[in-house]
Amino acid sequence: MGEADGRLAVVTGAASGIGQATALRLLAEGARVVAVDINEAGLRRVVDAGAEPVVADLSTEAGRATAIEAGQGAHYLVNAAGILFVKPIWDVGLDEWKRIWAVNVDSMFFLCQGIGRSMPAGGAIVNLSSSSAKAAGTVEVAPYSMTKTAALGVTRSVAYALAPRSVRVNAILPGIVDTPMQDTVLEAVAPLRGLTAAELSAARLKTVPLGRSAPPDECAGVIWFLLSDAAAYMTGQAINFTGGLVML
Ligand SMILES: NC(=O)c1ccc[n+]([C@@H]2O[C@H](COP(=O)([O-])OP(=O)(O)OC[C@H]3O[C@@H](n4cnc5c(N)ncnc54)[C@H](O)[C@@H]3O)[C@@H](O)[C@H]2O)c1
Repeated sequence: MGEADGRLAVVTGAASGIGQATALRLLAEGARVVAVDINEAGLRRVVDAGAEPVVADLSTEAGRATAIEAGQGAHYLVNAAGILFVKPIWDVGLDEWKRIWAVNVDSMFFLCQGIGRSMPAGGAIVNLSSSSAKAAGTVEVAPYSMTKTAALGVTRSVAYALAPRSVRVNAILPGIVDTPMQDTVLEAVAPLRGLTAAELSAARLKTVPLGRSAPPDECAGVIWFLLSDAAAYMTGQAINFTGGLVML
């Protein structure tokens, strides 16, 4: 018997990348997993592994309500759904600004609120921030970086609100994790630097002290640690997962 056996977990962004790896890890730990994503076809892998699919657009109130209803009584929540777009800061328009905040921040806050309020003592939430919250180094992803900074604020405020009920909330800040989102960044930013995607990838990895990117399941392992009772004295924290790229 593992500590997650039979407990309910909600994972957003479960159709791809870090969310998918986290859903698979939670299933392997014995949890019952509600897998939420806008991409129905992409959920097949976690559904085949035993997850219950919830197809919802978390940028909308109706989509969030569906996920919150499916997640009542959950012991674990992982907010991994997120989007990113690449555009010079001077060209960012209102619609794309509103959309990235709706997906990356509105969904995170309202799921923390709507699922957190019924979480049992010992429950835990992990929010996906990003190293770009601390190092706003790429002007073409400025709104993304801003939403990931807001994710830290959501994490701290909700951690404070839920601490009296012994429910913990932490954020993880990945650097470079090999997912479709990373491929999108490389393909969009490389031409702006006069490089190929492979050249840009190699140049970026040279800046990582450990000299490599991380597979999504390695990130899922740290997320599981933060959810687990081993991290029972940690709340409101922002944990770097960057191969040493960020050390503060
Ligand atoms: N990959 C990295 O290196 C990296 C680094 C830092 C932070 N992150 C963060 O980790 C999280 C997961 O990223 P990833 O790399 O696995 O990305 P990904 O693009 O592989 O997966 C994101 C998932 O979110 C889903 N999603 C997008 N919009 C949605 C919506 N409106 N409603 C419901 N689902 C929606 C997508 O369909 C997709 O399945 C994101 O929040 C991302 O910002 C990733």
